[in-house]
Amino acid sequence: MSINHFLALPSLVTCSPCIHGGDVWLHSRGQLPIDFSSNTNPLGPSPKALKALRRATRYVHLYPDPKATKLRESIAQLHDISANSIAVCAGITEILYLLAKIFIKPGDLASSIAPTYGEYEAAVLSEGGRFEYVLLNGFELPIAPLAEKSEKAKLIFICNPNNPTGTSFKREDLLKLLFELEGRAILVVDESYIDFTRLGERAHSLIRDAPEMPNLVVLRSFSKSHGLAGLRVGYLAAHPQLIEILERVKPPWSVSVLAEQAALAALEDQEHVQQGRRIVFKEKPRLQKLLASKCRLHPYPSDANFLLVKIRRKDLSSAALKQLLLQRNILIRDCSSFQSLGASHIRIAIKTRSLNNMLLKALVEVL
Ligand SMILES: Cc1ncc(COP(=O)(O)O)c(C=O)c1O
Repeated sequence: MSINHFLALPSLVTCSPCIHGGDVWLHSRGQLPIDFSSNTNPLGPSPKALKALRRATRYVHLYPDPKATKLRESIAQLHDISANSIAVCAGITEILYLLAKIFIKPGDLASSIAPTYGEYEAAVLSEGGRFEYVLLNGFELPIAPLAEKSEKAKLIFICNPNNPTGTSFKREDLLKLLFELEGRAILVVDESYIDFTRLGERAHSLIRDAPEMPNLVVLRSFSKSHGLAGLRVGYLAAHPQLIEILERVKPPWSVSVLAEQAALAALEDQEHVQQGRRIVFKEKPRLQKLLASKCRLHPYPSDANFLLVKIRRKDLSSAALKQLLLQRNILIRDCSSFQSLGASHIRIAIKTRSLNNMLLKALVEVL
């Protein structure tokens, strides 16, 4: 008898495998490639977070605080919201799967714009749900088509700014969508990359609205602007009632002692985030210009720390370009797994000037 016989969801046998990050390990042959595929702070983690991490090794024999109380309080203070409207998890990824577990039963529909981050769909499919996309056409949030989807969809995911396009949506537009969805669907806004937007939180974030709104969930990660992807820590802000439910389904101790201590120190080092942000602002226009003029590529406008780039050469696919760069120990994101993008787009994280120059040199050589 096969394992399929015991599965709660028969669809788990057939639903397509999702592409998770972490490709950098897959491609390391002794030496890790220079990673332009993960959109993290160009400076890496804060030295203060690393110091706290080393200090925390003294406590690894202890179980972590299951509610990450100190970290929740520190996050609450940062955003000026109450600690009971925050839950800390093992990255946004854990939160996505918990939300699917809480809200999606087999056959339920969820929706998002396309192209966008693939893990929303993967989480929904893992609970036997269905996923439909609304095509992103230009820079505007497609409020009416998303509202129409919510007649049937239970969860609507918006990534702001959006991965992989770098498109940022205005707070007012998200609030309009939120009111359209009221009573029908929950709006999940993933603000992983919000620290890298030009106008910042005030123009784009809904995090301070979340505690009051029963149909809004806002997600934040320590993986990106804090550069702590390997530690696995992130949080959500939502109505306290949803936080309570989430704490009930969340596996206990999923945030380690090390992750909590490093995240606490990272939060205190906002200057480190600002430094990373300044590098992105300086390097982005330079990279955009040189990708177009020297490499004959077409980078799209972006309000994030990465660029979606179209390959102009018809005879070169994104997968082939990725392989050519890997031979030069550089890893980029082949975007062919994103809905609606086809085989001619790549995504490049914006790094420090010297690393960006290495990428440009390699691109000039291979193109
Ligand atoms: C839009 C978006 N959300 C969430 C994640 C994952 O975040 P975390 O590392 O906190 O699980 C990623 C990682 O690539 C991402 O691009």
